[in-house]
Amino acid sequence: MALPLSLLTVLVVFSCGPSGALGCDLPQNHILLSRDNLMLLRQMQRISTLSCLKDKKDFRFPQAMVNSSQVQEAQAISVLHGMLQHISDLLLTEHASAAWNTTLLNQLYMGLYQQLEDLEPCLLQEMGEGGTALASQGPTLAVRKYFQCLFLYLKEKQYSDCAWEVVRVEIMRSFSSIITLQERLSNMD
Ligand SMILES: *[C@@H]1O[C@H](CO)[C@@H](O)[C@H](O)[C@H]1NC(C)=O
Ligand SMILES: *[C@@H]1O[C@H](CO)[C@@H](O)[C@H](O)[C@H]1NC(C)=O
Repeated sequence: MALPLSLLTVLVVFSCGPSGALGCDLPQNHILLSRDNLMLLRQMQRISTLSCLKDKKDFRFPQAMVNSSQVQEAQAISVLHGMLQHISDLLLTEHASAAWNTTLLNQLYMGLYQQLEDLEPCLLQEMGEGGTALASQGPTLAVRKYFQCLFLYLKEKQYSDCAWEVVRVEIMRSFSSIITLQERLSNMD
């Protein structure tokens, strides 16, 4: 995902400034928001997962990379932001509005938007610490590839109900990892 120009400008300014202490505070309710999002995703289910077994596919979620205790704070924030952004991108499409209850979808989208907003200062701070390259590295890249697979899969399946059901389950799995990352980040403070 390309960064908007305004963000890049800010990054350049920040990276020239004094580097503050590493460590950035995520809002207290960050994990709570993720749990809400997970619940919304659960409520969104429209057809049985079992009826879609034929469409099931292993997208190889990079679990080990995302969940590794080796992932440092800056990397964890980069991965977290990437996952939230990719999920928003998946859900902010006409195809998604056609597939899901729009009331629930809008609530989910607002939760995601809030989380991304809250994360922005952390991301800028970490990138100012010389982490600009993180976006193209290991776990962040693995996550981007994973979500690209989901996009392609939906397209191939012509956004069928079963394809969306399979993707819904994948997004729920992502949120479990998002919560793990958030818990790890709040323990780092
Ligand atoms: C992820 O890591 C946490 C703690 O490091 C652990 O409790 C959890 O079981 C792990 N989850 C997976 C799916 O590996
Ligand atoms: C969408 O979900 C909301 C909340 O669960 C519910 O009240 C509403 O009836 C649903 N709309 C449709 C069209 O199913």
